Amino acid sequence: MANINAFMENNEVETIDTSRKLRVGIIGCGGIAKSHVNAYLEMPDVEIVAGCDLVPGKAAAFMRDHGVEGAKTEYKDHREMIDDESLKLDAVSVCTYNRQHKDPTIYALEHGIHVMLEKPFSVTLDEAVEMMRVEKKSGKILSIGFQPRMDANMQMIKKIVQSGELGDVYYIQTGGGRRRGIPFAKDKDSFLRDDTAGLGALADIGCYSLDMVLNAIGYPKPLTVTGYKSAFFGKDRNYSRYQFFGCPEHADVFGVDDFAAAFVRLEGGIILDFRIAWAMNVNTPGDTIILGTKGGLRIPSTDCWNGSVGGPMTIYHEVAGEQVETVVPIIPRPKTTAKNYLFNRKIRTFLDAIKNGTEAPVPTSQIILNQAILDGIARSADLGQEVKIEIPEI
Ligand SMILES: NC(=O)c1ccc[n+]([C@@H]2O[C@H](COP(=O)([O-])OP(=O)(O)OC[C@H]3O[C@@H](n4cnc5c(N)ncnc54)[C@H](O)[C@@H]3O)[C@@H](O)[C@H]2O)c1
Repeated sequence: MANINAFMENNEVETIDTSRKLRVGIIGCGGIAKSHVNAYLEMPDVEIVAGCDLVPGKAAAFMRDHGVEGAKTEYKDHREMIDDESLKLDAVSVCTYNRQHKDPTIYALEHGIHVMLEKPFSVTLDEAVEMMRVEKKSGKILSIGFQPRMDANMQMIKKIVQSGELGDVYYIQTGGGRRRGIPFAKDKDSFLRDDTAGLGALADIGCYSLDMVLNAIGYPKPLTVTGYKSAFFGKDRNYSRYQFFGCPEHADVFGVDDFAAAFVRLEGGIILDFRIAWAMNVNTPGDTIILGTKGGLRIPSTDCWNGSVGGPMTIYHEVAGEQVETVVPIIPRPKTTAKNYLFNRKIRTFLDAIKNGTEAPVPTSQIILNQAILDGIARSADLGQEVKIEIPEI
């Protein structure tokens, strides 16, 4: 047994059974793998035994840079690593770019390995359905990497809606954006290319805004979507002057959206009005608002939208027949030893689900509906007309 002092402020400790260590591998040793490895390293019941990347030498350098000793890294891709039976993998983190979410996930599940898959679930709805079918057959856990779910402020949105304080929800405006925030990075274009990312702002940060509100209202099924997407900034060679790492060559490979909007009809007569931007000529497309028959909730946006509550929320309701505004203060993050509190929780809840045989902390049964909306927006935008959302039997 070991104690993790994850909450130093009130001296709360987590007791973790270390009698058996879970053997974990990392697929894709790029940007976000760092946060996964740092979180696994904080877990006394985990051994990081392997890592792989398509780029030769990248996994070895990555493990070295993160102080992971003894991990095997000589694999040319996820298949070779998973085929290495000497590793006895219990779980993998799939940290590959969006177009490479499906293959490693399916291959791991088919080999009896639990999967923590980075967001978004996938690029298309069909890919997500394929993964879920294999997940179901395998009986293994597939959890999707929505760490904002671990934020107490996000959980508060759900508590407010579920308490009935707003009455029946009938309209939601959500989304967010950045005035200039295309994820350019030095020597990296995997967010920008169609053959790696597949979708841009729509999936990258749009999936978070959708999850924020859909999780709160219990993930009703989406029925129809009218969607729009554009790429006026990413394809502009002059855009790069606005961002430190941007360079004109980024514009030449840009193959995804940098803005998307949609009008979505959900089961239960609920309307979802959505917009998301990596770049636009305004600081924010507005706060998230949830309108119900008894009350409304305003959730402030942020200038650099990344799936967080931007400030104190306000509930607009009636008390004793008077119109009242109740401010819900921001809940501060616990003081913790974790390098990244939300990632620490995202990984811990995944490991606990494996050990306790419980449901994935962020289950595919919910995120498939998120993906169906992203897919519907992309399809509708391409067709220039409203589309129906039909999710095949899993
Ligand atoms: N949860 C978050 O906060 C968060 C933040 C950033 C990125 N992400 C998500 O993480 C994913 C990866 O993003 P990133 O910034 O790390 O990208 P990245 O391009 O830096 O890294 C991806 C790596 O995967 C490797 N790869 C691709 N296919 C592979 C395969 N089949 N086998 C082995 N290696 C493979 C690539 O060579 C690359 O090194 C994306 O889907 C992104 O949306 C999540």
